[in-house]
Amino acid sequence: MFITFEGIDGSGKTTQIAKLREFLGNFFPEREVVVSKEPGGTPIGARIRQEILHGDDIDKRTELLLYLADRAEHVAKLIKPALDRGAIVISDRYSDSTICYQSAGRKLDEDVIMTCNEFSSHGLTPDLTVLLDIEAHISKNRVESSGEKKDRLESSKIDFFERTREKFLELSEGETVAEGGRWLVLSGDDDVDIIADRVAKAVNCMLTHQKVEV
Ligand SMILES: Nc1ncnc2c1ncn2[C@@H]1O[C@H](COP(=O)(O)OP(=O)(O)O)[C@@H](O)[C@H]1O
Ligand SMILES: [Mg+2]
Repeated sequence: MFITFEGIDGSGKTTQIAKLREFLGNFFPEREVVVSKEPGGTPIGARIRQEILHGDDIDKRTELLLYLADRAEHVAKLIKPALDRGAIVISDRYSDSTICYQSAGRKLDEDVIMTCNEFSSHGLTPDLTVLLDIEAHISKNRVESSGEKKDRLESSKIDFFERTREKFLELSEGETVAEGGRWLVLSGDDDVDIIADRVAKAVNCMLTHQKVEV
């Protein structure tokens, strides 16, 4: 089973992935759980991540291709082998981030991105995508109050994040788990434990082959 977490910076992805890992460890101890992230889920990916987050003035096409190279390596070397072993794989960001950040955020051609995404992901689509939705100004406050130095992307302007956020919502429209799709859309502004319960409930339903009620 392949689960991805999406949402703009500061939406709570890392926080919720830790909670989900804990839930799976407690309730499905027999299952192998692999937690990974994009960019940077593999050794080559880690080097690409350094360039993307800390390199200066990267052309937006170069940036797109770096993300895609990271994904190709991630799917081939980590995600597919783990899924083939029967593991539950959780990725902090995946193809939807590329669509939203590179098309809505950077305004690159969406059709090109879709085609390249399909190629770099080997056509692998998540079984469940949790979208943590927060407004761009909340994202900004959270990132700023963390006190850490902002990376190249976190320093982008607020309208870049708002466009990206809206694209995530657009992708999930009509495609939620309740509608038979793969998106679980949750407000990232709710209490951490309330969000974690909703995610755990959905994952539990899927692992026990029940219809996902949310
Ligand atoms: N539901 C929430 N409500 C309030 N603060 C949150 C919530 N989820 C996460 N945070 C805080 O927001 C910041 C960013 O969370 P994080 O999980 O790192 O987000 P992401 O991985 O999406 O960038 C952290 O300081 C975290 O403690
Ligand atoms: Mg994070």
